[in-house]
Amino acid sequence: MCGIFGTINGSDAAPVLLDGLGRLDYRGYDSAGLAVLDKTIAVRKLGGSVDALASLIRVRPAEGRVGIAHTRWATHGAATSENAHPHVFDGIAVVHNGVIENHDAIRTRLQQDGHEFQTSTDSEVLPHLISHHRRRGQSAVVAVQSALGEVHGSYAVAVLMEDIPDLLIAGRRGSPLVVGHDEDGGYIASDPAALAGYCAQYAALGEGALALVARGAVLVMDQTGAAETPRWQQVPSLTTVRRTGAGAHMAAELAEIPAAVAATLAAADRRVGRTGLEAGGTVLLTACGSSRHAAAIGAHWLEHWAGVPTRVEIASELLHRPTLLAEAAHLVALSQSGETADTLAVVRMAAAASVPTAAIVNVAHSQMAREAGTVWPTLAGAEQAVAATKSFASQLAVLARLSLDVAEARGTLSPVEAVFRRRALERLPSWLGQVLDGVDHDALSEAVKVLARARTALAIGRDIGAEIAAEAALKLAELAYLPTLAVPAGELKHGPIALLEPGVPVIAILIHGPTLAKQVVSLEEVAARGAGLILIGDDAALTATHGIAALRLPLPPVADAVAWAALPLGVGVIVQRLAMMTALARGLNPDRPRNLAKSVTVE
Ligand code: F6R
Repeated sequence: MCGIFGTINGSDAAPVLLDGLGRLDYRGYDSAGLAVLDKTIAVRKLGGSVDALASLIRVRPAEGRVGIAHTRWATHGAATSENAHPHVFDGIAVVHNGVIENHDAIRTRLQQDGHEFQTSTDSEVLPHLISHHRRRGQSAVVAVQSALGEVHGSYAVAVLMEDIPDLLIAGRRGSPLVVGHDEDGGYIASDPAALAGYCAQYAALGEGALALVARGAVLVMDQTGAAETPRWQQVPSLTTVRRTGAGAHMAAELAEIPAAVAATLAAADRRVGRTGLEAGGTVLLTACGSSRHAAAIGAHWLEHWAGVPTRVEIASELLHRPTLLAEAAHLVALSQSGETADTLAVVRMAAAASVPTAAIVNVAHSQMAREAGTVWPTLAGAEQAVAATKSFASQLAVLARLSLDVAEARGTLSPVEAVFRRRALERLPSWLGQVLDGVDHDALSEAVKVLARARTALAIGRDIGAEIAAEAALKLAELAYLPTLAVPAGELKHGPIALLEPGVPVIAILIHGPTLAKQVVSLEEVAARGAGLILIGDDAALTATHGIAALRLPLPPVADAVAWAALPLGVGVIVQRLAMMTALARGLNPDRPRNLAKSVTVE
């Protein structure tokens, strides 16, 4: 996490840095800061957003034509202005993304040499360590190399030094960092999309690489210190949009779901050749958070349509199960950002074990897209709210389509049936538009009121419904800070039923099918304990619950041929919207919930 931006282009640096940070605040927004150089280094930083930093700079301008900046997601130390980056010591300013695992040992050693520290953050040791090497006679570049060579863990850094005003130094290992230049300027950023409008091309730094960034030129050295020819790539066009107001991003991104699904399905249509999953053996799906919930739904589809044995594992847990991974016939990783450290680590582990890898990924220029053997893209466009919405729907679209393609290749679906089902998927975007437009606003507002005043809640479902219940619980917890326990409905009576009492709402996901009758029994059990029920599902399923007192949020009717994919997607849209509205009703900003970041680049 954390976003880094650096510029040296002869113009006033602060506005450029603020613009860059604004494009990177999805990586963390606990605190923000910048350092600019005009003979001496001026630092402005605070615990707060990039907008707050911009306001600070309006009151206390910072002048200089070269600078580095940072937006933070705290790993070590609270989100305070002292802990915000840049950290400066001895005329050396550093911004850092990553985790320095041996920072305590480095700090103790430097303290014995007389260094005094202002914070307990891992990052603060970097300017001290660089200064330590410089004081021992090393040149600026060699001192940075030496310092980074002593660090265990991951880093992306940008360094600005008072006595070298015409150079920025960038380095990375583990965390992403790119560099770019045009005729007049040089730039550093955590994400190439942040460079749009500043330079046409960027180069992603390799593991352990160092770059010297000057006006109009960049020199890259590999981890051995040897000069390396950068691999220049086109800077992606700017896809982020400035929106103000609580929930403005999430509301817009929910509304974009039909277009995102349509674009994703169209891309799947252009795919040629077999997927590889039809070869037989277990398919292992891995992801984190909402992406894992999409994977879990996809697993049901792959098994149902193609008869492929499918497992879903949380990426951070799969890292401890090398045998499970090594025995998989295929690993499929799902990630919106393509940067999630745990998921990326599993992709690397699978590649090392010679397990074929594929990634369902939204950010086309991401590390995961570069490293996976095959990429099945989601074309959701930039997702700026922290919570996954249109990327989740697009992942489901890819998985639905993939299930049919694998089924056809394995012969569990005839070619005619496969074509029919594929064409039926094309109805998804317009139907999802109806889900968004046709929701019963009174029932939705009532459900929001119930959830907004609750202290805890439960979300239940069976089969695919249980996976969507998990998504509902995640979203209510992260956005509305409502502790919500997701329980497969059949498990309720094995413990969680003890939580039920009046005032504890239970959200039940209902999709018609063989498990419905059993779920109705669970609902009776819930109703008998006086807990309020919020039922979300299709008409047929809701009709079966007719005798039970509940708030009902029905989906619009959908053609049978596509209902299997449409209903999970539709219920997903409603639970995400419900969570967003509950957050707003509690006075929270669902776009930027506390303690979170859009891109989780630390394990
Ligand atoms: C929840 C949410 C997160 C992400 C998770 C994985 O609303 O957005 O749980 O799904 O952090 O991120 P990606 O998909 O980028 O790997």
